[in-house]
Amino acid sequence: MREYGERFGLRTLVETGTYYGEMVAAMRREFERIYSIEFVPELAERAQRKFARDTHIRIFCGDSRVVMPEVLALLDTPALFWLDAGYYGWVGKQGDQQRLSAELEMILGHRFAHIILLDDARGLTGRDGIPSVRDVKEHIEAKFPTRKVEVQYDILRVT
Ligand SMILES: C[S@@+](CC[C@H](N)C(=O)[O-])C[C@H]1O[C@@H](n2cnc3c(N)ncnc32)[C@H](O)[C@@H]1O
Repeated sequence: MREYGERFGLRTLVETGTYYGEMVAAMRREFERIYSIEFVPELAERAQRKFARDTHIRIFCGDSRVVMPEVLALLDTPALFWLDAGYYGWVGKQGDQQRLSAELEMILGHRFAHIILLDDARGLTGRDGIPSVRDVKEHIEAKFPTRKVEVQYDILRVT
């Protein structure tokens, strides 16, 4: 995260899936603004309390697919996105196979050239209605020709 922030000169981090706020805590001093979205109210409230004194950090409660437009509207520069909201098989709002592609489209269609890192790329199996890494790569690179998609260490990177 630090490396991508530095490489692309990004000062804002957007995370989906706050959980216990460990990534937010680790990146607390690395970004000027951090927005994180958590679906489970108890986890979101816990993180809101944890980061109550950090005025540059904001925790949103809700489904990332629904909250994302609100977060995108707050951005005035390109940001680093860490998509870690259990798109395939974590607690939360499951059963919506379109959530990942909907979020990717929103972020890539926004007015800034954001950088996206998606955790657990191994979940892109290409089975049971789930896209494969190749599907995602071909779709993004066809629709957004200036973008490059690659996977390294189980993280899909859209630069
Ligand atoms: C792998 S954990 C996140 C770990 C965290 N990013 C970190 O690095 O410490 C996944 C989190 O995503 C949340 N989640 C699942 N579905 C979600 C959704 N639709 N919107 C927002 N958060 C969701 C889960 O409740 C869980 O807390």
